[in-house]
Amino acid sequence: MKIELQALEHAYPGGDKALDGVDLMLDGNEPVAIIGQNGAGKTTLVKHFNGILRPTGGKVLIDGIDVNERSTAEWSRSVGYVFQNPDDQLFLESVRKEFEFGPRQIGMSDQDIAHRVDSIAELVGLTKKLDVHPFDLTPTEKKFCTIGAVIMMDPSVVIFDEPTCGQDASGNVCLARIIERLKAQGKLCITISHDMKFVTANFSRVIVMYHGRVLLDGQTREVFAQTDTLRRSFVTPPPVTRVAQGAGLKETVLSVPAFINAIAQERNHRG
Ligand SMILES: Nc1ncnc2c1ncn2[C@@H]1O[C@H](COP(=O)(O)OP(=O)(O)OP(=O)(O)O)[C@@H](O)[C@H]1O
Ligand SMILES: [Mg+2]
Repeated sequence: MKIELQALEHAYPGGDKALDGVDLMLDGNEPVAIIGQNGAGKTTLVKHFNGILRPTGGKVLIDGIDVNERSTAEWSRSVGYVFQNPDDQLFLESVRKEFEFGPRQIGMSDQDIAHRVDSIAELVGLTKKLDVHPFDLTPTEKKFCTIGAVIMMDPSVVIFDEPTCGQDASGNVCLARIIERLKAQGKLCITISHDMKFVTANFSRVIVMYHGRVLLDGQTREVFAQTDTLRRSFVTPPPVTRVAQGAGLKETVLSVPAFINAIAQERNHRG
């Protein structure tokens, strides 16, 4: 599934332009991360990918079709959006009901729904919580409930809006596994995140937003090599990347093993 943005603009009623001319092409199944400071326009951007928000200028094309030609309910079958705040999404009395709601709306068979509830509860770590009220879940479990509810619909594109926010380390491991699984199924996963360690570990393409525009877009290593531009967008690379840059290593490293490797190589080179 291909999402194409052409000079996309969005101005909220009575506000300035939250998006100010975004051109982007999202395609294939390589996970994409969107980063940038608070208020950069990340949430506004992704809410255009299934019509929750409509362009006030420019165009959004999904597989070549103008987003305005269909309703958000129709687009949500193929492009799922997991809200930044779970309380904006959850409204039923149990995790199971949250999982079953979307698929029922699109006419999935009872048998398929039952099968998917079990496998997706296992994937998001909520097998034992299916009959619990979402309000009684921990913040991390709530987030995974919203993720599960969206994946239940089997969309081709899944958008996560800050899924790592306030999450513990085991939550990040579970999330990495979900992203990996979606990629293996050929789905495109687009994730907004402030957690640079999580971004460098799990995403091959990174898009940096700044003041409603795309400042950088490329392979993760290339993007984190642009130190001056990143500083301008108030994005801080992960600690290991900064240490390596501070030490004057030529290569942009994104992990501790890569750092050790790069040091060894420079030593060999000199020696
Ligand atoms: N419903 C709204 N009405 C008016 N202005 C809004 C609305 N939602 C967002 N904005 C404004 O649009 C701009 C972009 O906001 P957006 O929520 O897209 O940023 P973001 O990059 O997702 O930020 P964060 O990292 O804090 O989630 C900000 O200036 C924000 O104040
Ligand atoms: Mg946001």
